[in-house]
Amino acid sequence: MSAGLIDGAALAREVYAALGDRLRALAGQGVTPGLVVVQIGEDPASNVYVRNKMRACEAAGLRSAVRQLPADCDEAEVLALVAGLNAEPATHGILVQLPLPAGLDAERITQAIDPAKDVDGFNWMNLGALVAGRARFEPCTPRGVMALLGRAGVPVEGSRAVILGRSNIVGKPLALMLVNRSATVTVCHTRTRDLERHTREADILVAAAGRAGLVTAAMVKRGATVIDVGINRDASGKLVGDVDFASVREVAGRITPVPGGVGPMTVAMLIENTVLAAERTAGVSGS
Ligand code: GUN
Repeated sequence: MSAGLIDGAALAREVYAALGDRLRALAGQGVTPGLVVVQIGEDPASNVYVRNKMRACEAAGLRSAVRQLPADCDEAEVLALVAGLNAEPATHGILVQLPLPAGLDAERITQAIDPAKDVDGFNWMNLGALVAGRARFEPCTPRGVMALLGRAGVPVEGSRAVILGRSNIVGKPLALMLVNRSATVTVCHTRTRDLERHTREADILVAAAGRAGLVTAAMVKRGATVIDVGINRDASGKLVGDVDFASVREVAGRITPVPGGVGPMTVAMLIENTVLAAERTAGVSGS
């Protein structure tokens, strides 16, 4: 039997709909949440992602702007731009689009963002709060995965969750979020021995390794929920995830497609984080 599809685009629309009341409350205080994306250079994938984020802001009724810097700019210029945005009251959220051109230190730059405006949740202050179970801003992609699971009615408490990939952006924060929700979590990576032994135990299997075709049907327990965070291009240039969708779909209970799964939810979480940032600044209670 074919797995049920988790429709990320439809679930993201639910997130936007739920923001309506919060945006109206902010508007009542004269506040429109504002997001500034800093884009350095012209990475083609980043161009697409940044455009999607801008469109989502516009559709949701947020103020947004892109601040472009050339690929050969120096770090002091970037840090000065970030410092200026930190001090700008109408800018509630700041995001520096990654990857950065060679020669720029992504860590130093993301750590320069005011933690209260760090809607990506990459600042160590926010990552530390997540470790302590007192999250302020959670990184958008893992937060999107949690929102997908919640909205699709997938039980998390007591489940066995296996994550493929240990990045600071997805794998590690997602492991914390799942543990905070009482799942039993295994994080697998390139040095994991006998990967299949781990993945076959998973009630929830999250692929975030960035390798097309990594997850095959033989690696998936019948009825498992499979969440595909991967965004890769196959040989013909088609967008594919980390999961061999056609075969895994025959084994899994539920599965996210690529595109149309995690991607739209990631953007929705960025919008939600920006609204949250504005609410905190305005002293309006959100959720
Ligand atoms: N590039 C790819 N994913 C992300 C993300 O979540 N945030 C930022 N800032 N850049 C990215």
